[in-house]
Amino acid sequence: MTCAFFEAHYLLQSKSTSFCSPQFCSYHPLPVVFSTAQGIWVIDPEGRRYMDFLSAYSAVNQGHCHPEIVAALCEQAQKLALSSRAFYNDVFGRFAEYVTKYFGYDMVLPMNTGAEAVETGIKLARKWGYMRKGIPEGRAIVVACMDNFHGRTIGIISMSTDPDSRHGFGPYLPLVGPKCPSTERTVRYNHVEDLEAVLEAHGEFVAGFLVEPIQGEAGYVF
Ligand SMILES: Cc1ncc(COP(=O)(O)O)c(C=O)c1O
Repeated sequence: MTCAFFEAHYLLQSKSTSFCSPQFCSYHPLPVVFSTAQGIWVIDPEGRRYMDFLSAYSAVNQGHCHPEIVAALCEQAQKLALSSRAFYNDVFGRFAEYVTKYFGYDMVLPMNTGAEAVETGIKLARKWGYMRKGIPEGRAIVVACMDNFHGRTIGIISMSTDPDSRHGFGPYLPLVGPKCPSTERTVRYNHVEDLEAVLEAHGEFVAGFLVEPIQGEAGYVF
C-alpha cells in the first residue's frame, strides 16, 4: 500500500520535473504534490493535508481558492473574459477608481505578473529621468539593493546578485542593479551609505531606486 502511494506520488512529481528543463527550474521543490487547496490548507492526491506557509505564492499570497475571488473570476469569465485595450470595458474604470482611492495613488497600470510590474517600473523611471530630470538619452541609472528578487526576465535578472537567477543568461541590461557604475561597489540592503555613494558619484543620472521594504526569495536571512 505504502509503495503504491509513493509510486503515484513520485510519478506526479517526476512528471512535473521531467518536462521542465533543469536550467529553468526556478525552485528546488519539496516532495509534496498539490491537488486541491482551500485557504491555508493544501491536500495531496492521497488526501494528506498540509498547511501552506507561503499562502499560495510569494507575490500572490491571498491563500488558496478564496470563495469570493473564485466567484468573481467565474462570474466575470462567463460575461467577458478578455477585451483588447483598443476598446473600453465596463469593469476596468470601476477597478481603477477603487484601487487608486484605496491606495491613495493618482493612476494605476495593472500587470499580469510581478516581473512585468517591475519591468514597467524601470521603464517609467527611465522615461521620467529623460523627460523630467533631463538625463541624456541612454544614460539613466536605476539602482537596486543586493539580494533583491523581482522575477526572472532579462531586465530583472540583470539586477540580481543571486547566481541561480543570473548564471548563464547574460549579457545583462546595463545601468540597472546594485552596483555603482564606476566603482562596481555593491549597494547592500540596509546600508544607506552605499546608496549615498552612488548618488554622490552619479546622482544626475540616477532615475530611480528600487528596493523591497521586506526582502524575500533571494534575500532571506535565516
Ligand atoms: C518579491 C517578488 N517580486 C516579484 C516576483 C515576480 O512575480 P511573478 O512571478 O508574478 O513575475 C516575485 C515572485 O516570486 C517575488 O517574490
